[in-house]
Amino acid sequence: MSIVLGYDESPGARRALGYSVDLARLLGDTLVLVYADEPPGGVRGEEFKAHFDALAEIGRTALEHAVEKAKAAGVETVVELIDAKPAAALLDAAEKHDARLIVVGTWGESPLRGAILGSTPHKLLHWSNRPVLCVPAEDKAVSTVTAVENASPTVKVAGPEMRKRPKKANRSKAE
Ligand SMILES: Nc1ncnc2c1ncn2[C@@H]1O[C@H](COP(=O)(O)OP(=O)(O)O)[C@@H](O)[C@H]1O
Ligand SMILES: [Mg+2]
Repeated sequence: MSIVLGYDESPGARRALGYSVDLARLLGDTLVLVYADEPPGGVRGEEFKAHFDALAEIGRTALEHAVEKAKAAGVETVVELIDAKPAAALLDAAEKHDARLIVVGTWGESPLRGAILGSTPHKLLHWSNRPVLCVPAEDKAVSTVTAVENASPTVKVAGPEMRKRPKKANRSKAE
């Protein structure tokens, strides 16, 4: 079987690579490394050729680094450089290789580190009919939890101190 990883060398993707390599080794799976190189906004045309070529080159270099890391761990790899948006590219690759799992970082290059999910994991969680593993980047934990606590009252509602109290009639027994 196989595991598909979206790899763009962003901090989230780097940590996701470590998990993917470990899982692929444990399960004896092939690791499919995907880079989606569709230009932002989908602009195409001869005048943008240099731009496309540069994106493809960034992708090839990123995938080479990931292949080295996987090979060093004894994991077999397949590389897919796909001309599509990241979420679509990952879904296609997962279909093609019948992946048991799609792995992504929770964010990419975005400076908005307080956001919980980048757009790729968000779309995959909605669209994929296969399991999706979202791996937070190393230095994400504390700042994100603080941001979520400040931004979202619903997170607080789920916290222990907000748990529903027993109905009045049962309260004396329960307390
Ligand atoms: N061009 C891409 N090719 C392959 N995977 C990608 C690409 N862009 C993003 N990803 C995957 O999606 C994760 C989240 O990135 P993204 O959705 O772009 O977040 P952000 O919105 O913060 O840039 C990355 O860690 C990576 O695993
Ligand atoms: Mg991005």
